[in-house]
Amino acid sequence: MSFSNEWEERYRENTHLSVWPWSDLVSFVMRHARPDRKNFRVLELGCGAGANIPFFEWLGVDYHAIEGSRSIVERLKTTHPELEERIVAGDFTRGIPFPGRFDLVVDRAALTHNDTASIEMALEVVRNKLSSGGKYVGIDWFSTDYCEFEKGTTGGDENTRTGYREGSFSGVGKVHFSDREHLLHLFRNFEIMALEHKIIRREIPQDGWHFASWNLVARKI
Ligand SMILES: C[S@@+](CC[C@H](N)C(=O)[O-])C[C@H]1O[C@@H](n2cnc3c(N)ncnc32)[C@H](O)[C@@H]1O
Repeated sequence: MSFSNEWEERYRENTHLSVWPWSDLVSFVMRHARPDRKNFRVLELGCGAGANIPFFEWLGVDYHAIEGSRSIVERLKTTHPELEERIVAGDFTRGIPFPGRFDLVVDRAALTHNDTASIEMALEVVRNKLSSGGKYVGIDWFSTDYCEFEKGTTGGDENTRTGYREGSFSGVGKVHFSDREHLLHLFRNFEIMALEHKIIRREIPQDGWHFASWNLVARKI
């Protein structure tokens, strides 16, 4: 099993409850994968507390999601009864329990909470569930330039860290960090249409904190 059970604990104690759509996800979908027809099928990997659901409902797409934490899935079924059949608890590295293919797969900081071998498996699962020419939009793949990369303990391979005791990665299990070459290798069976490196450097207070992550769009070939 790849899913870090720590997520279940974080949701049970009501932490990590992001509830506003992530702006990079909104702009990447609108720029690179704007739904262009009725019945456009979208699959979200690791939807968490459902931050991106209002955006996809507004777009009127046929939204589905798979999320590893059972308790957050139960909560989402209460807040979004219209999606009762379309949000499931499961490990996306093992397979997607929905029939048919998807026009778009979105992932905001979900695959990047798994180790390299599991990410390779998940990308193969995603490729098989995308329709011909379908797109994957990945937002916030943590970068090796993120200051947190140096802080964790090794999580089984050179790109994966764990054991954070403070900060946003505290108590969430595995965190995977990528550089450009690593991402190109992971997505070697896709066509990468867009790849952006986002770097935020804190100036005040000047404590050396800097964030870095990758956003990308990959098409099934
Ligand atoms: C950083 S949170 C992001 C949540 C949501 N995508 C957002 O942007 O608000 C990562 C989510 O991915 C889920 N996740 C990580 N690995 C998973 C796996 N292998 N299978 C299913 N869900 C997974 C976690 O449970 C968690 O909800």
